[in-house]
Amino acid sequence: MSNDKPLPVHADLFEATLHASLSNAALESMNFLNEIGMRYPDAISFASGRPYEEFFDVGLIHSYLDTYCAHLMRERGWSAGQVRRLLFQYGRTKGIIGDLIARHLELDERITADPESIVVTVGCQEAMFCVLRALRRDGRDVVLAVDPSYVGLTGAALLADMPVWPVRSGASGIDLDDLSAQAARARAAGLRPRGCYVIPDFSNPEGVSLSVPHRRRLLDTAAREGLLLLEDNPYGLFHDGTALPTLKALDTGRRVVYLGSFAKTGFPGARVGYVIADQRVAGRRGEVCLLADHVAKIKSMVSVNTSPVAQALVGGKLLEHGCCLTAANARETQVYQRNLRQVLDGLAARFGGAGVSWNRPRGGFFIVLTVPFTADDAMCEYAAREHGVVWTPMSHFYTKGGLSQLRLAFSQLTPGQIETGLDRLAAFVRDSRSHRPVISTSITISNG
Ligand SMILES: Cc1ncc(COP(=O)(O)O)c(C=O)c1O
Repeated sequence: MSNDKPLPVHADLFEATLHASLSNAALESMNFLNEIGMRYPDAISFASGRPYEEFFDVGLIHSYLDTYCAHLMRERGWSAGQVRRLLFQYGRTKGIIGDLIARHLELDERITADPESIVVTVGCQEAMFCVLRALRRDGRDVVLAVDPSYVGLTGAALLADMPVWPVRSGASGIDLDDLSAQAARARAAGLRPRGCYVIPDFSNPEGVSLSVPHRRRLLDTAAREGLLLLEDNPYGLFHDGTALPTLKALDTGRRVVYLGSFAKTGFPGARVGYVIADQRVAGRRGEVCLLADHVAKIKSMVSVNTSPVAQALVGGKLLEHGCCLTAANARETQVYQRNLRQVLDGLAARFGGAGVSWNRPRGGFFIVLTVPFTADDAMCEYAAREHGVVWTPMSHFYTKGGLSQLRLAFSQLTPGQIETGLDRLAAFVRDSRSHRPVISTSITISNG
């Protein structure tokens, strides 16, 4: 309770004098759905791409930690004192589970990675920031990214002072002609496109996957244009039984910097991700090191090291499943596939021929619905208040546009919630087609 007078504004502090990212609406996107979810707790949320919660169990955390510690003692011959120090002390900046991650990558993704080229980070988010920071020398450097893109990338780029240069995306993913055209335009403007961010599997927000020939052409285009590809792959394991090779698995020229996350295949509360940056970098005195070494230097000044306790939990989960996350996520994948089919069937039953269209991904967490009206933040709030259903306005992911599209995330919902949620969504769409409610609110996306 507070009946104090409001504190005076600090005389020297103006938003306009703080970091430019703070005045950019993109930085508020991460909070949007949290806020709306809290304001309308009874609304069914198709908004956030969070993992399914029914399998969460505090007992697993104890078990993962015990498994990792037992591994260090039995397999590596560590003493109890060494294990204690590892968990309680500051640690190595590149992390302590690079070997287990390399094994997982070999088994699940057919990626061969030297553990020295892996930096374990505080979520994929920190990996994105550190890589972009490393690639930005000065104001001429830009990163290309498909439009629409994941808000975490946009935010990391803002913090790294690295403008995002949009590239067109179609029903089959990144438009390669436009990629070359945009790289040329950026160069003609005196800029240096350093890399292109892509999510080749079940992208966020579009749910789009690149075919294998498209992946190969993307690698060729990147080589021709002298671009790194920043491949982000949090959803690739959640497929219908047909796994496509990652760009990194197809990459023979070390073009791909691979951004990994355990937020969906492990659990997001651990906040553990990683980057494989195996590119060789020439130094000023002719010495050669890995891009990972430079990324680690940046990380050492951002977070020193990723919590060894958190890494031990992810390490324990990996060990309990022989480092195979496909096996570790068998139940979760079934749930996501079931939910995906239920949403697709439910949309067909409710919206067939109604001027509403949607895409049909084979996996992942997201579907995009196109509607015949503006589906912006105000409409999202209207849907939450009047119809008890929440979704994400696609405009959050576009540099501009996307106003008649909404993203549906289905990963966290039960079958009952999906049925009720789709009924509510159908009522909202009927209502919104007939009239456009006048609402003025300023609300600002939770994770995912
Ligand atoms: C495209 C994309 N990248 C990465 C992540 C996960 O990032 P983190 O490991 O920081 O939770 C997400 C989660 O929503 C995502 O959608």
